[in-house]
This record gives sequence, structure tokens and C-alpha cells, in this order.
Amino acid sequence: MAILPIIVAPDPRLKVKSAPIDVVSKDIIKLMDDMLETMYAAPGIGLAAPQVGVQKRVIVVDVSMGEEEPNPFQMINPEIVWLSDTLFSYEEGCLSLPEQFADVERPDKAKIRYKDKSGQETLIDVEGLLSVCVQHEIDHLDGILFVDHISKIKKNVIMRKLKKFKKSSQNNA
Ligand code: NI
Repeated sequence: MAILPIIVAPDPRLKVKSAPIDVVSKDIIKLMDDMLETMYAAPGIGLAAPQVGVQKRVIVVDVSMGEEEPNPFQMINPEIVWLSDTLFSYEEGCLSLPEQFADVERPDKAKIRYKDKSGQETLIDVEGLLSVCVQHEIDHLDGILFVDHISKIKKNVIMRKLKKFKKSSQNNA
């Protein structure tokens, strides 16, 4: 396994709609394992393939946050098939938007269909933090960031900070 570099916003590669996967190849399995290792090392609770420069519909999620047994999900072609009317508010962050956070409201419960590593079609019910995390990661596959769910003013403040952050980290490199 390997730790992959994570793309920081603003970056056009984070705005692309990713392509579905037809065949669960060895390369895809390796990608998912590398993504999980990268996410744990960051540390984070979710990561989508476009964040590591691969425009394919793959996400990894683990919301156990070291307090419980690890409970990783590695999802291929994840799709939302149902969302609840009730909402869950969470202060979201993103490994591609380092040190930036904002409250985002999303449906509290969802039904997600995806293919697992063995290519098996799976349907799960998610709620609370797992639900918002999976929705956040699926957004990445459609080129959507959590700041696209907040007010333009708040989004602009965050994007300005990120531009500064990128400039200073380039100068230090
Ligand atoms: Ni994210």
C-alpha cells in the first residue's frame, strides 16, 4: 500500500465528473487500499478518488475515528437511491480544503447502492455522520465540494484562505 498525495482546492481536477467503473480490476483494488491508507494517515473520515487525481467513481469512508473498531467502507460506483426528509447538521471539513470547516445540512438518512471490492452489488442504510460522510464523498465524484452547499460569502472566504495557503506552501517547497 502507499500514501497518495491529496489535491488541495482550488484545482480544476476537483471539479470534474468522474467516470463509473466497469470492471473491478487489480488496479482498482490497489487504488482503494491506497486511498484507505492515505485517509487514515491524513487523518480523515472519507476520501474520494478525484482527490488523489483519479477521476473514477470510488470512495472510502470510516467514521469510527479511532474510538471504536475500524469500520472501513470501500465503495465502487456508489449511488444514492433514497434520502430522508429529516436533516443532519455537521461541521464538515475536507482533506482537499485543509483547516477549513463549515456547517452543512444534509439528509440524515440515506440508502446507498454500491459495488464492493469483490464486485458484489450492495445496498446499505446509513444515518447520521456516516450518511453525511458518504454524501460528501459522492459529491466529490460529481465535482462538488462541501463549500458548494454553503453561502457564497462563506465559500469565498474559505477559497481565498485556500489560495493563500497554496501560495505559501508552494513558496516553502
Ligand atoms: Ni471532501
